[in-house]
Amino acid sequence: MFEKKICVIGLGYVGLPLARLFSTKFPTIGFDMNQQRVDALMAGHDATLEVSDKLLQEALATHGFTCTTDLEKIRDCNFYVVAVPTPVDKNNRPDLKPLLGASETVGKVISKGDIVVYESTVYPGVTEEECLPVVERVSGLKYNIDFFAGYSPERINPGDKLHTVEKIKKVTSGSTPEIADIVDNVYNSVLINGTHKAPSIKVAEASKIIENSQRDVNIAFMNELAKIFNAMGIDTHDVIEAASSKWNFIKLSPGLVGGHCISVDPYYLIQKAQVYGVMPRIMSNARRLNDGMGDYVAQQTIKLMNKKGVLVKDASILILGITFKENCTDIRNTKVVDIYHTLKEYTDNITVYDPWADAARVKSEYGICITNTPPLGTFSAIILAVAHREFLSLDIQSLMSAQTVIYDVKGVLPRDIIDGRL
Ligand SMILES: NC(=O)c1ccc[n+]([C@@H]2O[C@H](COP(=O)([O-])OP(=O)(O)OC[C@H]3O[C@@H](n4cnc5c(N)ncnc54)[C@H](O)[C@@H]3O)[C@@H](O)[C@H]2O)c1
Repeated sequence: MFEKKICVIGLGYVGLPLARLFSTKFPTIGFDMNQQRVDALMAGHDATLEVSDKLLQEALATHGFTCTTDLEKIRDCNFYVVAVPTPVDKNNRPDLKPLLGASETVGKVISKGDIVVYESTVYPGVTEEECLPVVERVSGLKYNIDFFAGYSPERINPGDKLHTVEKIKKVTSGSTPEIADIVDNVYNSVLINGTHKAPSIKVAEASKIIENSQRDVNIAFMNELAKIFNAMGIDTHDVIEAASSKWNFIKLSPGLVGGHCISVDPYYLIQKAQVYGVMPRIMSNARRLNDGMGDYVAQQTIKLMNKKGVLVKDASILILGITFKENCTDIRNTKVVDIYHTLKEYTDNITVYDPWADAARVKSEYGICITNTPPLGTFSAIILAVAHREFLSLDIQSLMSAQTVIYDVKGVLPRDIIDGRL
């Protein structure tokens, strides 16, 4: 195996932990187009909190890890890993711009014999049909003759301190059997639980997209059940608890499906399936159902307020949490904004408290002012939208009057104080 010099392109939630990990075994350099991000990382801090300051500073100081926006600094690498975002546009169609941009970058620096591995989540075919032609065009090199490719999807779970990058078993693949072995070896050398070598790049791409789509569909089923049981006056969590006593029941909870993975990736497969004449009805309906849950939570809260005789017009409402999941700073595609917008039609008096979210980013992304400090006073309604650990010890009773409606999206608050939950 030739001596590897790795370059990870895209230093976000996925790229940075991976680059830091690679740097423990290989000379590694991180490349990102965002100068501010690179400066912060070189100063030893990761704002996503996925890599601790200690580990990042150790990588910079003792493993020779560096981050750059300078193409010249990555020209002598021979193993490029692309981990840039794969969002959807406003019509939920795959937006491949970041991937194609990163492929241009690779095309400018790749040399004969080098390997480029894509990590970004995509529908089957993106690597070979969309990205590699760009690398070929820009570099003037021929795919699988002059340079080679692989695909190894990331499974990292932001905020999860248990399933960290080195512990996650990873799917790998390569553009020839020999390259598949090399790619597999590189990943295996840093992963504690090893790899699964897929027979082709397309299989590896498809495997990732179905992991997230399966979760989306399964949660949609739980959300549908929550709507049915709420209408029937039965507590969904109790039902799930009882059903979970069967050995093969898949235990999931209803909830808001946000973030950049589960709420986005299925659209990639939905779009591609239609190109092949298949209408993916289950996935499409799951997406629609899950996307409507923020509005549903707001409507349920309003109903409960009415029931209790609490005036909804101009009511003071507290929303606890705005990130897309607990104990993490990520606000991408958070469905809490849907709760906010539905309630905003009734009242301007809404406080959003989130100790994790960056207030300035929330303001610029969603136009919503939030507070990072615990609120004072009492509220007409309180919605626990995200189960941040700070909320589990928050003295909610001190924020309540006799009439306050409490809605618990996550099912974590004491039963005796809540009026409703998903
Ligand atoms: N975050 C997760 O939990 C997770 C898990 C599994 C898979 N994924 C997938 O991994 C990919 C990356 O996701 P992420 O969450 O790390 O994204 P991110 O937004 O956190 O980070 C992406 C980084 O790429 C940089 N970037 C964008 N375009 C670039 C370009 N052309 N050249 C260089 N840098 C560029 C951005 O500046 C940013 O720093 C996506 O396809 C995502 O679906 C994410």
